Amino acid sequence: METNSVSKVFILLSMALLMGTQLISCSVTYDNKAIIIDGRRRILLSGSIHYPRSTPEMWKDLIQTAKNAGLDVIETYVFWNVHEPSPGNYNFEGRYDLVRFIKTVQSLGLYVNLRIGPYVCAEWNFGGFPVWLKYVPGISFRTDNEPFKAAMQGFTQKIVQMMKSENLFESQGGPIILSQIENEYGPQIKVLGAAGTAYMNWAAKMAVGLDTGVPWVMCKEDDAPDPVINTCNGFYCDAFSPNKAYKPKMWTEAWSGWFTEFGGPIHQRPVQDLAFAVARFIQLGGSYVNYYMFHGGTNFGRTAGGPFITTSYDYDAPIDEYGLIREPKYSHLMKLHKAIKLCEPALISSDPSVITLGKSQQAHVFSVGESCAAFLSNSDSNSDARVIFNNMHYDLPPWSVSILPDCRNVVFNTAKVHSQTSGMQMLPTNSNFQSWETYDEEISSLEDSSTLTAVGLLDQINVTRDSSDYLWYMTSVDIQSSESILRGGQKPTLTVQSRGNVLHVFINGQLSGSGQGNWQKTGFTFNGPINLLPGTNMIALLSVAVGLPNIGVHFETWETGVLGPVVVKGLDQGKRDLSWQKWTYKVGLKGEAMNLVSSDGVSSVEWIQGSLVDQGQQPLKWYKAYFDAPEGDEPLALDMKSMGKGQAWINGQSIGRYWTVYANGNCGVCKYSGIFKTSTCQIGCGEATQQWYHVPRSWLKPTQNLLVLFEELGGDASKISLVKRTTTRV
Ligand SMILES: *[C@@H]1O[C@H](CO)[C@@H](O)[C@H](O)[C@H]1NC(C)=O
Repeated sequence: METNSVSKVFILLSMALLMGTQLISCSVTYDNKAIIIDGRRRILLSGSIHYPRSTPEMWKDLIQTAKNAGLDVIETYVFWNVHEPSPGNYNFEGRYDLVRFIKTVQSLGLYVNLRIGPYVCAEWNFGGFPVWLKYVPGISFRTDNEPFKAAMQGFTQKIVQMMKSENLFESQGGPIILSQIENEYGPQIKVLGAAGTAYMNWAAKMAVGLDTGVPWVMCKEDDAPDPVINTCNGFYCDAFSPNKAYKPKMWTEAWSGWFTEFGGPIHQRPVQDLAFAVARFIQLGGSYVNYYMFHGGTNFGRTAGGPFITTSYDYDAPIDEYGLIREPKYSHLMKLHKAIKLCEPALISSDPSVITLGKSQQAHVFSVGESCAAFLSNSDSNSDARVIFNNMHYDLPPWSVSILPDCRNVVFNTAKVHSQTSGMQMLPTNSNFQSWETYDEEISSLEDSSTLTAVGLLDQINVTRDSSDYLWYMTSVDIQSSESILRGGQKPTLTVQSRGNVLHVFINGQLSGSGQGNWQKTGFTFNGPINLLPGTNMIALLSVAVGLPNIGVHFETWETGVLGPVVVKGLDQGKRDLSWQKWTYKVGLKGEAMNLVSSDGVSSVEWIQGSLVDQGQQPLKWYKAYFDAPEGDEPLALDMKSMGKGQAWINGQSIGRYWTVYANGNCGVCKYSGIFKTSTCQIGCGEATQQWYHVPRSWLKPTQNLLVLFEELGGDASKISLVKRTTTRV
């Protein structure tokens, strides 16, 4: 009897223990020190990889390479506009297969921070919002507005349900340990005031109510209400602390570099500075750092935000656009991560004691029981410092942190880079483009195929709904035979005020000139002489979008395109304002409507064979050619430097917008020390901002691949080549 009851108690106890462990093993919580997984505080190193910016065939390698660098977590945004292209129609296929991406992370043993947003910014078209959302009656984005909140809740719920049904939250045994709602909302509240605060509190409550079993974060939102954790984004987060003493100190975006804009330079961030910033954050008690980006990738198709964000989203990340390791950035960070992980036991269990070692030098000592870890920093950007710590001498280079996992021996200093530097090269391949053919985008019969007629000038996006980059604005000007301009003398001029990105002006079917805005300001004025003939002259303005805005207070209300005035000057009557005439509109190109870019649609027109040289460089021209895939497995790119501006497709898939525009910047000295800004460490001034365009290997067949491109300005397609990216270690 006695034994029996004892064993009963034992069984009950074991069951309770088992259930207890089960409960613990399936929960993510936090305290003031760290995120707690399986009952254990963790120092978590994370990297952003956005699934639509590479191909599913690349994901495994990218994530494995991130893991090899010592990362524990992959952060990704969720991109609403690719998932719900029209209301209620969802797409989770191919590059948009979010579940497959998360399961790939899981299979490699890493965690996920799922940044649902659904506003994501991300230099992504319209900040991730579907364009149809703008036309929901009564909507106002990202504020206390019922139609917006209903739509946001609907999509957030949809994603959370999808994750739950696949058991992807850590509370269900999956890899997702954190989720984000909204994105960098703090700056909005400053402008929107009480309505902004009400919306932000609603968003937090709505998210928490979805009951994911894992914590929610809000980045750059100091007022995030409990239990949501407010986190930091920036080049540095030394000065950051969470809004409650019981929340951990987290950095959701440590910017590893910066994005590029057409017409701007390439930005590089020295790894010594990045490592310094990260080590400083850990030294000051931080326990979660995410590199934005760890792999930036490519803005395929028309996904780039803007305006003017380039197709490449390389970001100077540790893994480059093509999936290759960038050195010394990658290996130096790997060594940093190893050093930090050696300190983890001390970091998670103690608050540091701070010792002043000099004017700009500090030691933070984390010590508990046997373990002791120390971080010695020198934040002087010019001078070395020799400091004494625990009766020993340590030499600290300027702007650096030394890591001592045993409080004695320096295993890593952020400024001492021992890794090799990789040189990236674009080498020729044996692939040639064969049998070039061309097709002129038809503009003579444009007016017959117009979509819409209106008095006055219309907002471009309202007409196109972003179904195309292109919108034709057409009107006419009658010229009497008595006009003086017909008898020589000064030509009349056309002035067009555009709030769009690029404009091509056609007079009677001939390109008369082009204008463009730039990444530093919205809108521009086109001004140029035009040829007018007696009778009716056709004015056709092709307004081109180069990515919709992804940031700014109520960017959904910004109008774009040719908003006027449009004026002809130099006629006998003086000035003739065309703005309030009858205008006809046509959305998109004829070639787009016929789907010329695909293997099925390509034969729907008569292509012209013959020498490209004889045909000359003309605007609004389609080109096609076939090529075989090169041998090997190096990443591939198209060299588009001989072309002007347009889009290119391979076997029907868009590799993105191309534009040979030259970089205007401030290239010069790049010092690793001192506060990093995007105005420092620029390269590529005077060169094409982007010359090479990534062609994913998985898009190619062994032979007979179809390349189609649409050229707006005129270019020499015979000089386009397929190159392979290789790295050399120096
Ligand atoms: C879009 O265009 C229509 C028709 O011109 C107009 O009535 C409507 O107000 C416009 N909507 C927006 C949001 O600009």
